[in-house]
Amino acid sequence: MWFVGFLVGMAGLSAAAAERPAPDLREGAAAYAQSCARCHGPQGRGDGIDATRFFPRPRDLTLGVYKFRSTASGTPPTDEDLFETITSGLPGSNMPDWRHLEERVRWQLVEYLKTLSPIFDQTPPSPVQVASDPGPQRADEARGKVLYEQLGCAACHGAQGRADGPSAAGLVDDWGMPIRPANLTQGWSYRGGHDPRSVMLRVLTGIDGAGMPSYAEALSPEDAWHLAYYVASLQEEPHWNLIAHASYVEGALPAAWDDVRWRTAESTTVRLRNAVNASGEWVGPPTINAVSFHVMSNGEAAAFRVSWDDPTQELRETSDAFALILKPAGTEGDVVTLQAWPSAGAPRLDLCYWSARTQQVSEGLSGDYDSVMAGKASQVLRAATASYGEGRWHLVFQRPLAPGSPSGAAVLPVDGFTSVAFAVWDGGHPHARAVSPWVDVVLNKGRQAGGTRH
Ligand code: HEC
Ligand code: HEC
Repeated sequence: MWFVGFLVGMAGLSAAAAERPAPDLREGAAAYAQSCARCHGPQGRGDGIDATRFFPRPRDLTLGVYKFRSTASGTPPTDEDLFETITSGLPGSNMPDWRHLEERVRWQLVEYLKTLSPIFDQTPPSPVQVASDPGPQRADEARGKVLYEQLGCAACHGAQGRADGPSAAGLVDDWGMPIRPANLTQGWSYRGGHDPRSVMLRVLTGIDGAGMPSYAEALSPEDAWHLAYYVASLQEEPHWNLIAHASYVEGALPAAWDDVRWRTAESTTVRLRNAVNASGEWVGPPTINAVSFHVMSNGEAAAFRVSWDDPTQELRETSDAFALILKPAGTEGDVVTLQAWPSAGAPRLDLCYWSARTQQVSEGLSGDYDSVMAGKASQVLRAATASYGEGRWHLVFQRPLAPGSPSGAAVLPVDGFTSVAFAVWDGGHPHARAVSPWVDVVLNKGRQAGGTRH
């Protein structure tokens, strides 16, 4: 077995080597200047013209500290690791993928990156010892769960993986920037891949620079797989529906977040982006990056159930808060995106605002968030029910499809499309407002609860 695997490995290696061009640093430097310098800087110092807009910041490539490797902590990545980072990008960060560049060009970029830091001359990459993949059938997730607890992963990543562990707040990376542990339930946000093999490597190699240690000393290569399969089991599947469908129910709408009828209603996940401050910079690591929601209607009102991961529950003055945003009655076509709102001359929007402190939803039309947040010019809707636990908020509230007030309030058509968007505030970070793009919701009378795709 070992022998066959070894031969296959060798064959794979020589095939890759055959495709690899002879190093041409001029071509690598030109490709770097064209595609990478705007973020990573002309000399690779992480100070490109766009650098401050992103969180985490584009890497200072001159320091030779790499997060996503198959090599021991403190040693540089292999050429294949670099090639993989360039090819796949780092999902969940602003590092794009470069699949559209010819393979030859990507290899020249690898060669060029290695000239930016002396570490590649000083320290050879030292691949960690890897065991063979047990596969999903033979992986022992129960053992993985025990390891997750024993090794203290929960201290940072939280018991359920929602980045709400006691040590999560206040982590600072090697570059002096605040950093958050990954939300392990969001496989789509893992930068280095969310398949068991990638997770297994992350655990054995650690994430250099980010404060996540290597567990190579504490964990056998076999156990690293069991742990990785357990981590993969924490991942929840997102539903990136292009259109969200409401379900139709007869009579009373659900008021509780755990009403069984929600289970058969369609769930839609929406990515959020953090708003930046007036000078266009991040104020802190984004903590809330997605919302998932369900809608039910009975022809007169709509019930919204919204859930989002927030590592801390904040009920004080600057509490956790949420807004469902609608287009005022009579608004045609596209209005501003929330990323660019509010701003001078921006249109008024219809905000249904909930705060964890008041536990109420109030609705108002406004050209900014402040007046609705302060309770001015708004109408209290029916009470909302909310629950917080294990790093997640669930909020349910109801709204008439055509409320009499406030005047100009959005009218949701019984049979047709409406647009919704979301803003979420993490009270621990009052300036960090996360906002979504507009999502189309269709309220269709014919669509019965229970008959929808989950
Ligand atoms: C739009 C901005 C942007 C552009 C353009 C960009 N990067 Fe990045 N890059 C980032 C960010 C942000 C990070 C840091 C992500 C993190 O720390 O998780 C990063 C990280 C990296 C890393 C570090 C990976 C690791 O393991 O730590 C490498 C290597 C890299 N980029 C190479 C490139 C190359 C090569 C190009 C051009 C082909 C490029 N980047 C273009 C934003 C960018
Ligand atoms: C001291 C805090 C800390 C501990 C303990 C810790 N991690 Fe992490 N982990 C982090 C941080 C911080 C990040 C995010 C790194 C980044 O954003 O660059 C992370 C990221 C990850 C990622 C995502 C990597 C990616 O591709 O984006 C995985 C998977 C992971 N950790 C698994 C684990 C497991 C399993 C354990 C226990 C064996 C563990 N971590 C222990 C802090 C920690």
